[in-house]
Amino acid sequence: MSVLVATTMEECRGAIGRLRPGRRVALVPTMGALHEGHLSLVDLARERAEVVTVSVFVNPTQFGPGEDFDRYPRDLERDVRLLAGRGAAIVFAPDTRTMYPEPLLTTVTMRGITDDFEGAHRPGHFDGVLTIVAKLFHVVEPDVAVFGQKDAQQAAAIRRMVADLDFPIEIVVGPTVREPDGLALSSRNAFLSAADRREALALHAALDRADSLARDGVDDADRLLDAMREELSRHPAIAVDYVAIVERDSFRPLRRISGPAVAAVAARVGGTRLIDNVVLEPHER
Ligand code: PAJ
Repeated sequence: MSVLVATTMEECRGAIGRLRPGRRVALVPTMGALHEGHLSLVDLARERAEVVTVSVFVNPTQFGPGEDFDRYPRDLERDVRLLAGRGAAIVFAPDTRTMYPEPLLTTVTMRGITDDFEGAHRPGHFDGVLTIVAKLFHVVEPDVAVFGQKDAQQAAAIRRMVADLDFPIEIVVGPTVREPDGLALSSRNAFLSAADRREALALHAALDRADSLARDGVDDADRLLDAMREELSRHPAIAVDYVAIVERDSFRPLRRISGPAVAAVAARVGGTRLIDNVVLEPHER
């Protein structure tokens, strides 16, 4: 199937305008370096819409100074090939000047959900994410947009922005796709040496511990956090940024799990910062 690559907003709006009549439009925002996790979101988008648009844009405003913006992997040709194979209709791949012809004086800022965890470790990150996602929503005007649970705090923040700012867009969040050994797929895994990669499995192991304890009926967050920390401490090569048990939508820390909850972890392995999480299934009482 052929896919149209648009690099300007006019091209993108034009292509969508031609395809939209009588059809539903989906958007899957990405920063490229696509893997099966991204492509699973494209599959979800195709189940919900006839015209699937995928944006590929490494958004500079969500990277902090000293983060990996410059070395973030980029391979648009490969991304387009993969997206054509999965039935995307349009790839929107603007350059930085197209999205930011001038430094923005107007941005989306959130309180609460974004204060802690990724927000605390990456100041300005969520303003950058929410602002670019809002801009992409205005360019594409999708009926539905698909995000990954892999970035659980981002998904919660986007759901809230859409509610707060009345975007008429259905938000779908797809499950995290993992390697057979449990490592969550991430464009940043490309930075891991073989030894780092073995160490990185500790993130999944820690989340797995929390998950099985919760299934066994442990609902005390401190016990779950201790188990996660204990698992991670077996890997001294890993520098933990945080472990957390939070309510899924508000990202508020929980003392006891009663409803939808997420166990989340962020850690640095070698020079690479990784995040992962699981949605906890509380024991039926
Ligand atoms: P990026 O890291 O490229 O991720 C794009 C989408 O893919 C996000 O919704 C993310 O949660 C999802 N994703 C990543 N790894 C996944 C996995 N293993 N399984 C399932 N989904 C996965 O997230 C961003 O880009 C940016 O912040 C963006 C929203 C595009 C704004 O710039």
